[in-house]
Amino acid sequence: MNKFDQENPVICFCARVRLNDIKSAVESGCTSYRELEKRLGCGASCGSCVREIEDLIDRFTQE
Ligand code: FES
Repeated sequence: MNKFDQENPVICFCARVRLNDIKSAVESGCTSYRELEKRLGCGASCGSCVREIEDLIDRFTQE
């Protein structure tokens, strides 16, 4: 894993959505998983990342 991947890991492998994509979307007003799914397409395929995305929304909305 290179430095970029460590700092900005892929969260949703199906949609190739990374941590910073989720952070930016939350900062620009997405506060629920459904809104993120609509905007980024994350979680819409296998769904295995949904729990992690919800945890990240909680984390970034508290920052
Ligand atoms: S890893 Fe996110 S939908 Fe499959």
